[in-house]
Amino acid sequence: MRGAQYALALLGTRSRGDCRSLFERSGPDPRIPGLSHLSFCPEAPTSTETPLLDLFDKVKEFTTVDDLVRAGIYPYFTPIEDSEGTVVEIHGRRLLMLGSNNYLGVTHEPTVVEAGIAATKRYGSGCTGSRFLNGTLALHEELEQRLAKFLKKESALVFTTGYQTNLGVISALVGRRDAIFTDRENHASIMDGCRLSYGEIHKFRHNDMADLEAKLQRHSAGIREGRAPGGKLIVVDGVYSMLGDLAPLPEIVRLAKRYGARVLVDDAHSIGVFGPTGAGTAEHFGLEKEVDLVLGTFSKSLGSVGGYVAGDADVIDYIKHLARSMIFSAALPAPSVAAVCAALDIVEQQPERRQQLHANAEFLRRAFIDMGFQVGPGKSPVIPLIIGSREATFHFWKELFAAGVFTNPVTAPAVPEGMDLLRCSVMATHTREQLERVVEIVGEVAKKLRFVA
Ligand SMILES: Cc1ncc(COP(=O)(O)O)c(C=O)c1O
Repeated sequence: MRGAQYALALLGTRSRGDCRSLFERSGPDPRIPGLSHLSFCPEAPTSTETPLLDLFDKVKEFTTVDDLVRAGIYPYFTPIEDSEGTVVEIHGRRLLMLGSNNYLGVTHEPTVVEAGIAATKRYGSGCTGSRFLNGTLALHEELEQRLAKFLKKESALVFTTGYQTNLGVISALVGRRDAIFTDRENHASIMDGCRLSYGEIHKFRHNDMADLEAKLQRHSAGIREGRAPGGKLIVVDGVYSMLGDLAPLPEIVRLAKRYGARVLVDDAHSIGVFGPTGAGTAEHFGLEKEVDLVLGTFSKSLGSVGGYVAGDADVIDYIKHLARSMIFSAALPAPSVAAVCAALDIVEQQPERRQQLHANAEFLRRAFIDMGFQVGPGKSPVIPLIIGSREATFHFWKELFAAGVFTNPVTAPAVPEGMDLLRCSVMATHTREQLERVVEIVGEVAKKLRFVA
């Protein structure tokens, strides 16, 4: 995900709260309707000629949602009334779910559901406090030990969401003299973690190792020329959430060693999916020792909610006592922790699910390619159906939705310009019959809309 404003970016609109980028980089953003000449950043200098603005004026000028609703193509915040995993009910209609991150299909597994119920009965519905004070359960520590072992790291730490994990980890570790090297397509939570830190932020072009090296080189030259030295962190997604491609970890690790940087990999879309045991992209590339910190979420393959980071014990202990997003927020409730433990059992004991997931992804990717679609370079369960323009993407989404297939439309700047897409994601529990039906419907819609890839 490019940039920090995920939701508005999905709508093709930049966040109105992005004062820093607007004023520090290149002045007001002309793409924001009606705001190209005005300041709305509280820290921005105000001139005496500038009329006083009401804080809510921008709300009146934000018409994107109303426009899409009027056009009958607003696709977001759709309430699901019932779910069986691969099939959901919306407005009383059954749809094939092709937009979930429930990659291994564990959310409805009886062992996972029962573990959540039992934990609610034992510990209650919530922790009612921070991990730091009254909110740490024995169950949190049990999960942390399991995760550390599973990820072959000394120690692990559980947060309440993956988003908070990135905020907490990056801002705790990266201080004033330090520098972060972050892929432009990294998830919004990484971008926000970078912004919360006091470090210097260097964004490199997506998966472009020459650009990363050039930025590392320039930074090192600055230090040789007298700038105060500090630590360096390279941070990447293991699997990119929109295009489904992998980070080139071997090359990243090589550059990190050469320039004395630490490596943090966000394996949100890779835990349970990649690697011989499902431990993620570091395991996939045989680089568990070389990747300093692995981080992720329980909201995808592990079928719940929550986040984690794993690494050397002293580093994790440092994060534990400095990550504000953990210390100043309530702990992950027991039912979620217990559900994750049960989901981890499935990851460890049922490797055939992972194999089925990849077989399903390969089947759908191949079928889309055979129909003439562009699906991006990835080999993950995230399969982007690249449509091109924003309007065409919304119309394609609407037709698929009407025909019974749920997908997620994603538009620029969340994806590169001209690559607006329908994000399709596959589950291990999709049957071949369901996937064949998806292919049939996508083919019919493409024909109806005279879509030429
Ligand atoms: C790469 C990546 N990191 C972090 C997150 C945030 O995870 P969570 O849903 O647990 O907040 C996501 C969620 O979409 C993600 O894709």
